[in-house]
Amino acid sequence: MEEAYLNWPRLIEEALADWGSVGVRGEFDNVVLSGMGGSGIIGDVVKLLALGRLSTPVEVVKSHVIPSYVSEKTLFIAVSYSGNTHETITATLRALEKGARVAVVTSGGVLARVAAEKRLPLFKTPSGLLPRVSFPHMLTGVLSILDSSGLSIAGRREVEEAGRALESGRQGIAGEASEVARFAYSSDLLVVATHSPLEALAVRAKSEFNENSKTIVKVDVAPEWMHNDIVGYEKPLFTSYRAIAFYDPEDKVGRSLVEFMVEEYKGHGRPVLTIPLKGASLLGKVLYAALLFGLASVKLAGLRGVDPSATVSIGRYKKFASSVFEYKA
Ligand code: PA5
Repeated sequence: MEEAYLNWPRLIEEALADWGSVGVRGEFDNVVLSGMGGSGIIGDVVKLLALGRLSTPVEVVKSHVIPSYVSEKTLFIAVSYSGNTHETITATLRALEKGARVAVVTSGGVLARVAAEKRLPLFKTPSGLLPRVSFPHMLTGVLSILDSSGLSIAGRREVEEAGRALESGRQGIAGEASEVARFAYSSDLLVVATHSPLEALAVRAKSEFNENSKTIVKVDVAPEWMHNDIVGYEKPLFTSYRAIAFYDPEDKVGRSLVEFMVEEYKGHGRPVLTIPLKGASLLGKVLYAALLFGLASVKLAGLRGVDPSATVSIGRYKKFASSVFEYKA
């Protein structure tokens, strides 16, 4: 599975070959990104990237419930690797009922069928991968749709540059990932700490350790952490934890906040691994963090002797979900 992660520069190239192929014309009041798990994280990351670049509000829906403001002035992007995720299908059908302009990123399934029936713009991601491994392809797909819809938050050249940087840095990142995995291995509970607005990357790291390494992870985000969680660390029920703390070196405030967190964990006698994010742009840092934690989680699975690709309990839930949601895949 490590090879699949190391193949990310190729996946970006493949997605770039379809750059500009799909867009939605219109004037939009808001953008809503719908998806769950390894597909839903694309929305979080896009919201992070949009923060300093887009004046149109961006919302992420990780549920079957959509905001009441969704209307014909909404660009609704449904992201589901399989195309068969009940929550995403339900949210998308509800958005269509409200007249939203919908685009789809998927490898197939029900959502591809709905897109064909309703002539919705579709950015196809290759089948045969795991959703979490398809991350850079689906992300490039959404960035391309936004770019072609007059809501650009990253242009083709920026994505190309970030892909090239990943290509030249990936072996080094694999070495760093081994260190992260070894650090995490001696921990009963892993804490992933960062500063706002990078919470999407901490959530991504958490999900990767959940799914690939089969372990529980807590996410701590400054400065909100300083206003509640911090007190929980005074007398926790669970004391054998280790923290991985990462920050954007170009964000002075963020870095200082993370340094404060690190001192708190250490003050409680807990080991901390501190990671400054590498990358020439925010997109570069996103890809660096996603690859680092993806590889680290697979390596941790190896150390623990578990299969990184299997997600048995998600399968159990999805079976159950088909009896809960109205739309039958
Ligand atoms: O990584 C995974 O396998 C999961 O988190 C899936 O992404 C999640 O269950 C949603 O499925 P899909 O990505 O097919 O919509």
